[in-house]
Amino acid sequence: MRMVDIIEKKRDGQILTKQEIEYFINEYTNDNIPDYQASSLAMAIYFQDMNDDERAALTMAMVNSGDVIDLSDIEGIKVDKHSTGGVGDTTTLVLAPLVASVGVPVAKMSGRGLGHTGGTIDKLESVEGFHVEISEDKFVKLVNEAKVAVIGQSGNLTPADKKLYGLRDVTGTVNSIPLIASSIMSKKIAAGADAIVLDVKTGNGAFMKTIEEAEALAHAMVRIGNNVGRNTMAIISDMGQPLGNAIGNALEVKEAIETLQGKGPKDLTELVMTLGSQMIVVGGKAKDLGEARQLLENAIQNGSALETFRTFLENQDGDGSVVDDVEKLPQAKYQIELLAPKSGIVTEIVANEIGVASMMLGAGRQTKEDDIDLSVGLILHKKVGDKVNEGEALLTIHSNKEQIDDVKDKLNQNITISQTGTEPTLIHKIITE
Ligand code: URA
Ligand code: CA
Repeated sequence: MRMVDIIEKKRDGQILTKQEIEYFINEYTNDNIPDYQASSLAMAIYFQDMNDDERAALTMAMVNSGDVIDLSDIEGIKVDKHSTGGVGDTTTLVLAPLVASVGVPVAKMSGRGLGHTGGTIDKLESVEGFHVEISEDKFVKLVNEAKVAVIGQSGNLTPADKKLYGLRDVTGTVNSIPLIASSIMSKKIAAGADAIVLDVKTGNGAFMKTIEEAEALAHAMVRIGNNVGRNTMAIISDMGQPLGNAIGNALEVKEAIETLQGKGPKDLTELVMTLGSQMIVVGGKAKDLGEARQLLENAIQNGSALETFRTFLENQDGDGSVVDDVEKLPQAKYQIELLAPKSGIVTEIVANEIGVASMMLGAGRQTKEDDIDLSVGLILHKKVGDKVNEGEALLTIHSNKEQIDDVKDKLNQNITISQTGTEPTLIHKIITE
């Protein structure tokens, strides 16, 4: 097989065989195909697209390019949730113990945050003692016993995706549905998921800016999952404004605890219930979404979801008593209110810029090597659609620096108050096919 023939075939709009796709991925991973040929093929795919069979073959070739996590020793259907990324997205912290408390095993491999979006591991590390450096054996044992554990990313998962994504980033080929969908799905499958629930974000804080784009990506991923034998569902949710009220590591853990107690923000609670119901259904613990939702509501009301969170933290050497006393989480030295400059209705809180403001306080990393400050961040008191009076607090800034004029400017520039406005839609669509 010659790479140039594969490139020409795709350039001319023909369909690649499974063997051709595997050849490309294997030889590219092994450095036997140069970057210029790989980027040429990526550009051809960008313009000519791929059909369902090609997308499935590309996904599985990338899965098999490196380690595949074997979770077969865990009883039950392992359901993984994936979010395409957002600001203040506290859902995993709530969902993992909640779904586990209903009996669906959550064997989660997670990463750290980069840029203005936070990582689940960083957030969890704000609990004293908690860590994700556990052996694969211990990970499996904990999931079997407590139904939930989190482990750090293994070094050699989908190396083909790593290499190809790096190349796409600098060759104008990131924004291609077949390439994005196979990239995301390959990582989930390599991490051992039997079934996958996807939260595809849309809005200014998201990768996919419009509902149409998000829907196309969601459909593509659901089809790939189902074509390679992983039951997959997706929702399209709004990321125009940050999710929930808290943005920042320890602040989001506190928000997660409150949500597990049934006292969480409305939007976060609704998203968790929607995604959680899907996880329960694909995990085989309920026959439909209505029954699943009832199970989740019971788990919150009777306290079992919160107790599962405590056990999960303690199993990984964390201080589980934070669920009784959130004051034990790291706290910033200063709490500074940002006041509304005028009366009206909040019509815009630009998610990604709010994420940047939180990063400026030290909550996020600019580069992989940066240290982060777990205690800092923002608590929103007003969300889009809320009324506000002049001089009322829009949000509280939790900071370890007293001089934060730059952060305040950033926030003021990205919160809009108008005379009329409505509450935004949180969940735009549910996609099961
Ligand atoms: N995120 C991924 O993991 N892959 C892509 O291709 C784009 C976003
Ligand atoms: Ca939040």
